[in-house]
Amino acid sequence: MAQANLLFPRGFLWGCATAAHQVEGQNTNNNWWAWEQQPGRIINGEKSGKACDWWGGRWREDFDRAAEANQNAHRLSIEWSRVQPAPDRWDESALDYYREMLQGLAERGMTPMVTLHHFSEPLWLTERGSWEAPEVAELFNRFVEKIVEALGEYVNLWVTINEPNVMLTSAYFMDDFPPGKNDFGPAFRVAENFTKAHAMAYHTIHRLQVSARVGIALNYRSFTPARSWSPLDRWAANLLGSSFNHMFPDALQIGRLRFIALSKSIPQAKGTQDFLGINYYSRDQVAFNLLKPGELFARRFYLPDAELSPTGFIANVPEGMFEALKWGLKFNVPLIITENGVEDADDHLRPRYLIQHLHQVWRAVNFNFPVKGYFHWTLVDNFEWERGWSQRFGLWELDVETQARRKRPSVDLYSEICRENTISSDLVARYAPEILPKIFPD
Ligand code: BGC
Repeated sequence: MAQANLLFPRGFLWGCATAAHQVEGQNTNNNWWAWEQQPGRIINGEKSGKACDWWGGRWREDFDRAAEANQNAHRLSIEWSRVQPAPDRWDESALDYYREMLQGLAERGMTPMVTLHHFSEPLWLTERGSWEAPEVAELFNRFVEKIVEALGEYVNLWVTINEPNVMLTSAYFMDDFPPGKNDFGPAFRVAENFTKAHAMAYHTIHRLQVSARVGIALNYRSFTPARSWSPLDRWAANLLGSSFNHMFPDALQIGRLRFIALSKSIPQAKGTQDFLGINYYSRDQVAFNLLKPGELFARRFYLPDAELSPTGFIANVPEGMFEALKWGLKFNVPLIITENGVEDADDHLRPRYLIQHLHQVWRAVNFNFPVKGYFHWTLVDNFEWERGWSQRFGLWELDVETQARRKRPSVDLYSEICRENTISSDLVARYAPEILPKIFPD
């Protein structure tokens, strides 16, 4: 076969995504730390502990790794509980530390994308009712204002809230995340508060920074009716799609939040996304099930012949990436893949998964979809929330005890793609020859 290259646009952002609680360690003043202390919350009773020890300074060596591997961008989050340890107190030394990290990215020639809320929150907010508290948007806004004033000179790309849809589902329907509710009651109020908080933050950031680009990172899940002929399966898949995927970005586009039969006008949210961040991991089959009202009458599963990740968490369905980007077009804003990856300690599936998903991103780019960057989840194995350390999403393997890092083969694979801004047939032949004919047909 002749050599061929799949080129990405000039200036494309290539990086990894991380989140404060998952990498920093010793975040003792937030709701996740408290959650980890409760028996039965985290697989095997595991704890985040030192995590990847970024708060102990190891972000330096990890940023070196990323930069040496040709990544030109990095997405990280700022831990609210560190910057504002009590409602009436700002910790300037924490701000200095984040400033140093952002300078560290700049020195390495990497563009930062900063997430202002990635699942964890200060304990004092939890005590006030967390995202159900009527004043939460205002409280979040004060934090955002402080951050943009202190760190704005280093950052133009802001994600206000990471995956409001996952937080809502995992914390208010599935009992996986704190506050561990399983109840429709407060859910709409929480969704409303996420939307209001994002809108307020959006306007604040723009007031302080003319050049800012502000959006959310949404977890896009592809939902396919299990039996395409079944109107009930189609109905259930649609209902899941409209609540999980559409609800938040729709609200930010039109200024109205809709969830099943509920609807609320939030006019200040209208037109508050400069880009849409998409986190794409997998696709579900959806079958209608009357016995599952709490899961919107849906039984979700992977196809029996799907290629599964080692813990069965992810089915490798790269076409869903293209579907997600195509869907994202309707918002008429630039699109950024803010997360995509797979838990795979032995790195058997990751090379293939990575190439296949990037191939779909490339396809989208070639249809002229406005895709501006890709952030892999994640740089180094980290603390995976309720799944603890049982899932290894890192390009680099982490020994949690010794803090030693070891390179997985995907590091060099991704590094070559980042350096060349290209997926070459030669690279695919070396890392995943089994998919070569599919990606580069004769
Ligand atoms: C989250 C990350 C998480 C990843 C893999 C995403 O839903 O934003 O924090 O670690 O999925 O589980």
